[in-house]
Amino acid sequence: MIGIFDSGTGGLSVFREIRKVLPDQSYIYYSDIAHCPYGEKTREYIIGRARAITEFLMEKGAEIIVVACNTATAAAITALRKEYPVRFIGMEPAVKPAAAATETGVVGVLATAGTLRAEKYIDNRERFAYDVRIVEHVGQGFVELVESGNTEGKEAEETVMESLKPLMDAGADTIVLGCTHYPFLEKTIRKVAEECAPERKVTIIDPAPAVARHLVEVMDEEGIGRCAAGGFSISLHTSGDINDLKLKYSRLI
Ligand code: DGL
Repeated sequence: MIGIFDSGTGGLSVFREIRKVLPDQSYIYYSDIAHCPYGEKTREYIIGRARAITEFLMEKGAEIIVVACNTATAAAITALRKEYPVRFIGMEPAVKPAAAATETGVVGVLATAGTLRAEKYIDNRERFAYDVRIVEHVGQGFVELVESGNTEGKEAEETVMESLKPLMDAGADTIVLGCTHYPFLEKTIRKVAEECAPERKVTIIDPAPAVARHLVEVMDEEGIGRCAAGGFSISLHTSGDINDLKLKYSRLI
């Protein structure tokens, strides 16, 4: 059984990709919506939440855990790996493929404040993207748009414009989605990017498909079967309202 967690429904954008490569697995998903957003919380707070959720998922039988949240990965994955006897798969803003893809030499990164200030992200940027210009912006209000189901239309476009315009104005042609909530806004992000720079070909990078492939490799290494005995299943859990999560699941997946 694969455990997946996020501060909310963002991790479902990762689950969506994992399910493509592991269609017959059994999943347990935890949405920590009562403590969402993680983006502005302290590192200690997020580590505390990540521990509690990990223990819950392990108790329910998770054999491997996907931290389907960039902010939680940046804050907590090192501690989790030291403390628990399961493998953890994390999320990181995909600056390496973005640096390879850019033609203008400018990469835009959208992520939470927690991710952008994390040592892990800063290290990666220095190692893999030293020869391009990286411009960053917090996706201000993006998590709230996704959680309220407001991913398209005027309000979503105006909110996305505020954070994306500075990146487009700086010349970015490659946009990294550094938060797992943001892929649910991809259509709006593309529309706004085109509006900002109609002549530019813009590439949007979501690391979830690469993370899904990496998960399969690690499961093979660990001897965890690719198929569950009973075929596909998912059990949903949350610190908030379970009916609300079920509704979001049916809408987003
Ligand atoms: N989905 C999360 C991420 O990937 C966190 C969003 C939030 O809770 O601020 O960073």
